[in-house]
Amino acid sequence: MKPILVKKDLYFVGVFDPDIRTFDIIMKTANGSSYNAYLLKTDDGVVVFDGVKEEFGEEYFSKIESLCDYDEIKYIIVHHLEPDHSGTLPILISKAKNAKVMMSPQANLMIKAVVHSGEIQFETVWSGKSIQIGGKTIKFLSTPYLHWPETISSVLVEDKVLFSGDVFGSHYFDKKLFDDLVGDFDYAFKYYYDHIMRPFKRHVLNALRLYEGENIELIAPLHGPIIRQNPIKYINLYKSWSEQKGIFGGKGDKKTISIFYLTSYKNTKDMAESIELGCESEPKVVVNVYDLASLEENNVLNLLEESDGILIGTPTINGDAPKPAWDALSCMMLLEKTGKTGGAFGSYGWSGEAPNMINDRMKALKFRVPLEPLKIKLIPTKDELDKAYLFGKEFAQIINGKMVEMEI
Ligand SMILES: Cc1cc2nc3c(=O)[nH]c(=O)nc-3n(C[C@H](O)[C@H](O)[C@H](O)COP(=O)(O)O)c2cc1C
Ligand SMILES: [Fe+2]
Ligand SMILES: [Fe+2]
Repeated sequence: MKPILVKKDLYFVGVFDPDIRTFDIIMKTANGSSYNAYLLKTDDGVVVFDGVKEEFGEEYFSKIESLCDYDEIKYIIVHHLEPDHSGTLPILISKAKNAKVMMSPQANLMIKAVVHSGEIQFETVWSGKSIQIGGKTIKFLSTPYLHWPETISSVLVEDKVLFSGDVFGSHYFDKKLFDDLVGDFDYAFKYYYDHIMRPFKRHVLNALRLYEGENIELIAPLHGPIIRQNPIKYINLYKSWSEQKGIFGGKGDKKTISIFYLTSYKNTKDMAESIELGCESEPKVVVNVYDLASLEENNVLNLLEESDGILIGTPTINGDAPKPAWDALSCMMLLEKTGKTGGAFGSYGWSGEAPNMINDRMKALKFRVPLEPLKIKLIPTKDELDKAYLFGKEFAQIINGKMVEMEI
């Protein structure tokens, strides 16, 4: 495979991986993927933007060698240190003796754990910094947490090209490479956003503000099609997905509390209903109750995302919380966790570990967990249901801003 011309003097030197079917453990990649890397030739030297997975190194290096000598490489721009883009970096650094590695300060803290041997000539860059080479300007943009802390983007100013890192990526192999030539990759573009960018919506919006200040005609992401037909359309899609608050646009100034329960003999369900009434006795909250055992995972995901307060009710079964309770919280891997308030409750027979375990898990997910779990032995009495009511009321008060002392 030869390099592919992207714009005058700018080449695709990445590789195609049509056969990959699972990516980063969490993603299914039915259409394979590509690891995009780029090379810019100027009168004053060469710039290499990123690398590929180590196992594809031979093809990547042979593309580079067909375009330049390693001594001509002046800059290696590292937008992202994940191994699908940095796998070839140690060898490139060892070959390109005159090159300076351009990366974020956060990448500087990580790169020694990626490139184990040799001295690295580097410079750290952030928004506002740029380099000039052979009449070209490369401007850097700090776009942390998209999707690792060290990620940056850059703009090739004169050519109006945005190198966006994994942002706007798709796991979608098509050797025709450009968005106006490839097949329909809509699903892959959204799927990539949902699995990689969705947990970092606030950071996406920050990055979009930076991108909007640039004149962009072509987006060169690290995976999938290069976007040159209508870049603004893709930018706007990311914007609407990242701003979105539920399909109906949120609940105005009301806070959302979701109560998810599991139950075998109705005991935990009865608790959930009293907690619901307690929550509803407070103003400015919308309260929803769901039987967790019958919810589709994707619905759980959306409900969790939309909830300010999350209460999970679970009986203790064989010294544990049943799997759907753990599964629900495992969805948080795909969501923003900061700003959520959590709590747990449940009926039990003799040992009652489950609500404590769920509380601990919520704390580990960095939820605010202000209340001790509410546990009731077997069938709740009227008095116990009154306690559940008060538990719900206090939770809603906290959601509405009541201060509580919390153990750290
Ligand atoms: C298979 C099974 C295992 C159980 N294991 C425990 C346990 O390890 N510890 C405990 O406190 N209660 C245990 N229990 C008792 C339940 O937690 C108790 O019956 C509770 O009231 C059920 O609430 P629910 O009606 O909301 O499902 C177990 C119950 C069943 C059916
Ligand atoms: Fe990545
Ligand atoms: Fe990637």
